[in-house]
Formats: sequence, C-alpha cells, structure tokens
Amino acid sequence: MTSTENEKGDSPMSLNDEVRAPQRASDQQDYHATSSEQITAEVLAAISSTTGTRAGEILSAVIRHAHDLAREVRLQPDELLAAAEFLRRCGDISDAARHEYILLSDVLGLTMVVDTEAAGVADGALETSALGPFYRAGAPWEPNGANISRGTDDGEPAKIHGRVLDTDGTPISDAVLDVWSTNARGLYENIDPTQPDYNLRGRFRTDANGSYDLWTVKPVSYPIPDDGPVGELLHLTGRHNMRPAHFHVIASAPGYQTIVTELFTDDDPYLDSDVVFGVKPSLVVHYNRIEGPARLAAAGRTEPYWDLRYDFILTPGQTTTVEFSTGRHQNH
Ligand SMILES: [Fe+2]
Repeated sequence: MTSTENEKGDSPMSLNDEVRAPQRASDQQDYHATSSEQITAEVLAAISSTTGTRAGEILSAVIRHAHDLAREVRLQPDELLAAAEFLRRCGDISDAARHEYILLSDVLGLTMVVDTEAAGVADGALETSALGPFYRAGAPWEPNGANISRGTDDGEPAKIHGRVLDTDGTPISDAVLDVWSTNARGLYENIDPTQPDYNLRGRFRTDANGSYDLWTVKPVSYPIPDDGPVGELLHLTGRHNMRPAHFHVIASAPGYQTIVTELFTDDDPYLDSDVVFGVKPSLVVHYNRIEGPARLAAAGRTEPYWDLRYDFILTPGQTTTVEFSTGRHQNH
C-alpha cells in the first residue's frame, strides 16, 4: 500500500475535528437529550396533552417505570429486542380461545395485584379472585337443581348449594351466579372440542329465599397451557404450571358489587403454590363426601357424590360488567 491514508498523526484535519466536535454537541444540547433521564423527560413532555386524564396517568407511569427498569438493570439492546420478540410470540399463539397475555399477567402475579388493590369488599364478605382466561359469557340460564354436567364423562358429581346474602344476613333474591369449571381431565369446554357446547357452565338465579342449588362435578387441579412463551417463562424460573382445584363464580345482584371469584377445594396439593397466586383463605372450601345407602337414600340419589354448601355474602355497591369473554375452538 502506497497511500498515505493509513498513516496516522500527520493530518491537520483530525485535530480540527476534535476541537470542533464538542462545540457541535454543546450547540445541540438544547434540542437533543444527552442523558437517559433527559429522554424520559422529553417523552413525558411529548404526552403532556393527556395530563389530567386517566390515559395520561397510566401512560406516564408506564413510561417512567419502564425507563427506570431499563436503567436499573442496564437493559441491553439485544435484551430489549428479545423482550419484543417474546411479546410478538405471545400474540402469535393467541386466538379467540387462547389468551397468552392474560396468562402472562396471571403468572407474574399482576392480575392478583390489580385484583387486590381494586377490591373493596366488606369484612367477612365474599372476596375476589382471578377471572382467568376461560370465562365464556352467555352460558345457558338454568333452573335451580339443574345439572350443568352435560358430558358423558365429566367427573365426580358434586352438588353446590347455599344462599346469597347481604352483609347483614338478609337473603338476596334474584342474585345471579354465573359459574364454570373444567371436566375431570382439567379442560374447559371452549378448548376441548370433545365436550358439549357450554359444558360445565351455567347461570342460576336465587329464589325468594336467596337460595341456589346446582349440580356439576368436583373440581380438579389442572395445568395452564405451557406450550407457549408463558410456559418458557415458567420453565426458566423453575415453576410448575398447576392451578389448585377451583370453581369459578361471578356473583351479582342489583345494588351489590359484582364479585368475580373462585372457590378452592381444601384438599388440593397445589393450594399453597397456585401458579396464578389466586388463593385467599376465605375462598377455600370443603366438599363433603355423601355415600352409604342411608345417606344416599335420604338425598334421593343412588350414586355417591360430593356436597358443598356455601353462602355468598355480597357487599352493597355498584354492579359491574365483565367485559371479557373467551371464544370456543371451532375445529370440531
Ligand atoms: Fe380456572
């Protein structure tokens, strides 16, 4: 090589560049942030038109916390891209019956943090728990005493009955219990084409005495889907993907807070390690085994079954509507 381009230290231009470069950066400081904190301030200023609105409150907090998170862990560019790819794959695996973002919120405990912060029920009244991603609106209305086990092999029969009461013990008539659970294989009907439509789902109204009475199957513990990004997260952190046996309920009545909750079976091995952190002590219930000729005869049954008596105590307040509903897989 004969060119002098590779020879260093003899060009007057390089010295001039070094002298001028800081001046240019200094000139531009009024227009371009030079620290990450200045970037945060610029972004918050860019959304200042939302100040005073709920959207602005939430979005500015998201920006502040996300930027602080990046600074705290010194998030690297490739890690940010990996996070974006993780979220893309969460979307990719989601459909009308599979809600990976809800699962993500659930397994990170965010759902229950939101639930706990939002809850304002009276002492001793029915507490809330996670809705989960499997609620399907529009379940059939059923008369008291009806059986919502519409399949041929759903599980062990269970009778669930009791009353819906005000905090002062007054029965609430025309209260609505919208209930759902899995079959004995741990599958909700919307993701299991072998089950009848709306199997193990139903809506019941309390009678004039505030009483309700329904037949279903005893809940079983079941795994949440781990074949997607959320499953990878669980495996990475050494966690199982099991939920303790539970029975979902949305309890509502005019003049009372609508309560989205779950009743957890007391003998379940996963009660202390629910993958979505939904268990609260007041929601743990005991099913009595009814068997033997005399007891079965008294109940007018021939087959052994489980019996749960449970009173739902509602807190006076505003009814709310559950805005989420899953779909049902159509590949059947
Ligand atoms: Fe569930």
